[in-house]
Amino acid sequence: MDRFIINGGRPLQGTVSISGAKNAALPIMAATLLAPGTHRLNNVPALRDIDTMAQMLEHLGCKVSHNGALEVCANHLNFDEAPYDLVKTMRASVLVMGPLVARLRHARISLPGGCAIGARPINLHLKAMEALGADIHLKDGYAEVIASRLKGADIHFDVVTVTGTANAMMAAAVADGTTTITNAAREPEIIDLALFLSSMGADIEGAGSDRIVIRGVPQLKPAEHTVVADRIEAGTFMIAAAITGGDIVLENVPTEFLQTAMARLEESGVRFESTSRGLRVTGPEALASVDVTTAPHPGFATDLQAQFTALMAIAEGTSVITETIFENRFMHIPELARMGADISVDGGTAVVKGMGKLTGAPVMATDLRASASLVLAGLAAEGTTEIDRIYHIDRGYERIEERLRALGADIERVSVE
Ligand code: EPZ
Repeated sequence: MDRFIINGGRPLQGTVSISGAKNAALPIMAATLLAPGTHRLNNVPALRDIDTMAQMLEHLGCKVSHNGALEVCANHLNFDEAPYDLVKTMRASVLVMGPLVARLRHARISLPGGCAIGARPINLHLKAMEALGADIHLKDGYAEVIASRLKGADIHFDVVTVTGTANAMMAAAVADGTTTITNAAREPEIIDLALFLSSMGADIEGAGSDRIVIRGVPQLKPAEHTVVADRIEAGTFMIAAAITGGDIVLENVPTEFLQTAMARLEESGVRFESTSRGLRVTGPEALASVDVTTAPHPGFATDLQAQFTALMAIAEGTSVITETIFENRFMHIPELARMGADISVDGGTAVVKGMGKLTGAPVMATDLRASASLVLAGLAAEGTTEIDRIYHIDRGYERIEERLRALGADIERVSVE
């Protein structure tokens, strides 16, 4: 099991290029199941979660290669099951549900079980499939989804669900008739999925709004697509500059998708400047405390909450961080406390008393974004921070220690037996 050793206190300097978005690539990879032929996806990041989805597609009968571009040949599907051992590795595996039901008219999807950050059920996904005409049978920890034919429907999500919206879009793309999804997720990754589906021949309007209309077509065809840049990775690097008092340039930043996060960072004293090389991000001498409440896009992204909490731990003043999306997304806080952070948690609210500084300590990563939060804290802390279980971070950040080292960070990965 690998760990990071970080010697903190070094302001980041230099330029970093933002990778393709994991949370766009995953549903788009699943969407290749909708059409036989060879699909070509560019700007797909090299991450563990991408490898897991590639394994899932191969399990179902696809041929997948990832050398530069990611190619998926989905000519023959010889299986309709998303098995527990893959789904428990990565919850986003449930994204194959919509495409399998659309292509094969049946799917057997393992229920994901619990996850570190919350229960994360898939009831809304199943409700959407039922609305489209599927019968659902829950048996032995699996959801059997059977639809002799898919018909267009009105689908309303009681709770905004990103992958639930994606599954509904993919199944509706080839349903008979028109589907309207209301209270749809507005995330940029949904827009990117809609762009890919449209290039396959789907008829979709309204992606990016809370009302998406999909007119079913008889058949889709393979397509090529370049995956949108990763707004969460970009936000993480912005906070890295802020927390180290650094001065960096980010290339390929989707700033249009980061307006809320950038506004909160500006309130804390971070400065942004568009330059010919990219977006320049400068951390202030002293950080002001800022309150944040997470919300579905275009609100403050829950996937940046842990990173922002680490930033507020070294600010001057008190900030209130409210997590509204997941019920257990504060697991980074006890670890930050080991580094001297003063944060009290009450349900979904964390009150952060900025200490102006942190001190290096041994800590443990618990989930993807919590591990990013601990890396950022280590970069800012005085002394040495050791982060255990960093396989979590490899799920969502490509070569993170190399790219941080290129910005002047003192970070190395060591293998521990
Ligand atoms: C997506 O997860 C992202 N993952 C998550 O990013 C992100 O945190 C989340 O959206 C919220 O933005 C991918 O896109 C692969 P949801 P998803 O369905 O779709 C509840 C990361 O760090 N819910 O929008 O699984 C759910 O429990 C990951 O990259 C139901 O109750 O999240 C949660 O409280 C972590 N029933 C809320 O809705 C359902 O059927 C939002 O979940 C579905 C969801």
